[in-house]
Parts: sequence; C-alpha cells; structure tokens
Amino acid sequence: MNNVDLSVKIGSLVLQNPVMLASGTVGYGNEISDFTDLSKIGGIVTKSVSLNPRKGNPPNRITETASGMLNAIGLANVGLEAFIKDKIPFLSDIGSTLICNIAASSIEEYVECTKTLDAEDSVKAFEINVSCPNVKEGGLIFGNDVNNVRVITEKVRAVTNKPIIIKLSPNTASIKEFAQAAKDEGADAVSAINTLIGTSFDIYSKKPKIKNITGGLSGPAIKPVALSKVLEISRNVDIPIIGIGGIMNWKDAVEFMICGASAIQLGTVNFINPSASEEIIKGLNDYCIETGLSKISDLTASYLL
Ligand SMILES: Cc1cc2nc3c(=O)[nH]c(=O)nc-3n(C[C@H](O)[C@H](O)[C@H](O)COP(=O)(O)O)c2cc1C
Repeated sequence: MNNVDLSVKIGSLVLQNPVMLASGTVGYGNEISDFTDLSKIGGIVTKSVSLNPRKGNPPNRITETASGMLNAIGLANVGLEAFIKDKIPFLSDIGSTLICNIAASSIEEYVECTKTLDAEDSVKAFEINVSCPNVKEGGLIFGNDVNNVRVITEKVRAVTNKPIIIKLSPNTASIKEFAQAAKDEGADAVSAINTLIGTSFDIYSKKPKIKNITGGLSGPAIKPVALSKVLEISRNVDIPIIGIGGIMNWKDAVEFMICGASAIQLGTVNFINPSASEEIIKGLNDYCIETGLSKISDLTASYLL
C-alpha cells in the first residue's frame, strides 16, 4: 500500500486506518488472531466487560436469520479482574489500538470499570455500551433513556482523560438526541449502531429459536438502518461517528464514511470471513487510488459537504 493516508482521527484518538473489530464478535482478540494479522487493523474493541464475571443467558443464544443473525449472549464475560490479568497482556502486544468496551447495570459500575481500566497504559480508549438489548438490567434500559446516557457520560468523563466513545442503540425514536447528549457531556465520539431487537420462531415446536425469546439482529439485514442512523447523527450533531452494522466488504465501509462515519467496525462478518478486516483495508486503499483521494478522512460525510 502506498501514498494514500488511511489514518483517521476520532477526537484525540488516532487510528492507522478506519477499520476496527466490533465488540463481542472477536472475543478478546486471541480467537481471531490465527486468521488475520491484528497489527494491521485500525483498532480492536473488546467484548463488553463488567465488574464481575457474567455467565450470560442460557443457550440457545444464537440463530441465523435472512441476511443476518440474532444473538442473546447476555454479556457473558470474564469480569474486570480476569480481563486485566488474563486478557490485556495478549491485547497489549498485538500492535493495534486497544479500545475497551464496558457494560454495567448501574452508573457506579460503569464508573468503577472505567476508573480501574484507566490505569492500564495499553488501553487507549473506552467504548461505553449503553445499548445491549439482551440483558434484563442495565444495557438497553440505560440506552433508551437520554438522561441516563447523559449522566453515564458525565460520570465516566470525570474519571478518565482517555477518549470516550458512547455506543448507541438503534432501538430509539431519535438517535440524534442521544448523540447530542453524549457530546454535551464530553464524549469524544459515538458508535452506531448496536443490534436491533428481533425474534424468530420454529414453526413446528412453536417455540422461539433462542431461549431469551428476543435477541439482537445484526449482519447485512441491518445495514440500511445503520446507515440512516449514522446519517441522522452526522446531519444534526457535530461529533465523530464510528459506523457499525452489516458491513461485509470495503464498499459497505465506503458507504458508511460517505454518510458521516470517521471509522467503521466489523461485527457479524468476522464469523463468516475472519480475514475480512485485512481485505477491507486493502479495498479502501484501492478505492482511494481509483478515485484520486490522497487521504481517506476526506471521504467522511462527503455526501453532506
Ligand atoms: C454474537 C455477538 C455478540 C455481541 N456482543 C456485544 C457486546 O458484548 N458489546 C457490544 O457493545 N456489542 C456487542 N455486539 C454488537 C456488535 O458489536 C455490533 O454493534 C452489531 O453486531 C452490529 O454490527 P454487525 O452487523 O457488523 O454485526 C455483539 C454482536 C454479536 C453478533
């Protein structure tokens, strides 16, 4: 790759390119490292971590749908202590930018996780998950109330100087209000979108295909929704956006950037093609050469310019 400047800035966070791996779809990085060179990726966002370990929901937790999948993992994770002890050492060595995603069931828990992880040098930014649809407390309850998002952002901002990204839910009437609240309280960026609530039934057993009944829909089926949410934010709020939702190839990534994303995350595609990130980085580079762009950041919000 040559001459094209693929680097992007998200607030004070500089990434070598706009391609990141989305939370929950690559575990703690080690699972996918056999299939792709993680040092080439712009950033890796870790599975949502909570203060204490979580077993998550009982199985079945995943089912395939037309052009996508439903998941109700329920934020299963190793908990903060084991994350720091067992997972951060590997993640610190991969040569990409490490972003820790935090989920919690109380404001105090968000603050405590952020404060503790702030002390870890290799953690370069936080993504605050206020939008998981698969847990009974926290998650979407926070994400659906703009005042909660405001308070969480304010409190988390108070305990770290590292960049904060608020991950927004699409399951709201007006995502721009949430992005504005995040900006007002000092977030550096928002990421959009988390999964959409969905369900799926077996017509013979007449039972839901996932035990939790509802789950989060992801994959290509949600791309047009995600694009419209990114556009809604970029038209109304002056804050960097990380676009997420159904990105399968470099063309999808370009679309998100045109609509206003400064960077993008890959989720469901990692289950189908774990080398997708490298292919997309190359595709973006070639697209810039083909269209005469010397820096990819010029693509961001080019529809609106
Ligand atoms: C199996 C699975 C687990 C996920 N776990 C998390 C999580 O722990 N935290 C989070 O913020 N998002 C989580 N997500 C949401 C993704 O990060 C992403 O926002 C969503 O899947 C949309 O992107 P995609 O269509 O490219 O998959 C998960 C998604 C999937 C499919």
